Amino acid sequence: MKRMMVAGNWKMFSTVNSATQLIEGIVGGLPSPVTERNGDSQTDVVICPPYTVLGTAAHLLANSPIALGGQNCHHEQEGAFTGEVSAQMLTDIGCSYVILGHSERRRDYHESNSLIALKALAAVTAGLTPIVCVGESLEQRERGETADVVGTQLTEFVHGAGSGCLAASIIAYEPVWAIGTGKAATPEQAQEVHADIRRRCEEQYGLSPMILYGGSVNANNAQSLFQQVDIDGALVGGASLSVESFLAIIKAAVGS
Ligand code: PGA
Repeated sequence: MKRMMVAGNWKMFSTVNSATQLIEGIVGGLPSPVTERNGDSQTDVVICPPYTVLGTAAHLLANSPIALGGQNCHHEQEGAFTGEVSAQMLTDIGCSYVILGHSERRRDYHESNSLIALKALAAVTAGLTPIVCVGESLEQRERGETADVVGTQLTEFVHGAGSGCLAASIIAYEPVWAIGTGKAATPEQAQEVHADIRRRCEEQYGLSPMILYGGSVNANNAQSLFQQVDIDGALVGGASLSVESFLAIIKAAVGS
């Protein structure tokens, strides 16, 4: 049985009230292999809400097996960076993970591989596990560049952050064309890229990280994705905002 992870990326959704309802629903419906935590549980669950509800979430999750993550952090520990949040601040409020290099941040805030590497170093120093996102655009896939694009994202990340940081990180393969489109990669398409990422990590750094798939994962397609040998779980956007669908994805991971 492989170790699995289901991580929810709430993006810029939820208020204190709606987050409370969502978390109570998820915690209340967790399958027993996740709740018992007797050492046999092979599925980790993480939720990554917006900053404004992290405190509420930390409180509600205090005695649950669900871990908390941020969706981004700054690469400096502190300073005059208006509007930013440091990795240390995420740890302080109860996070143990942070999503870095999501394609929405690469696209909208021009985050480069080298900046993402600096953020990952800051995250690991603060005691967080980075979930580092990589993935190609539709145009890049159609030009047959997927392996090169993902390979470069990975290589430049390790160039900046070091292989020790990769060893402390989780990779999320998120094809940009599959995010929020309802058009997930097929299990075979995802497996092919996951296998390539694993091969690169093994050959170049002697590492075999956990590799999540992200992009329109839902209650219906999770199981077939999780059956692929190199898919270790999912980073879930839209479907993590519904108790029913997020729990169904967790159950698919538990059963895989
Ligand atoms: P989606 O988002 O599941 O809504 O496609 C995934 C993500 O952006 O991490």
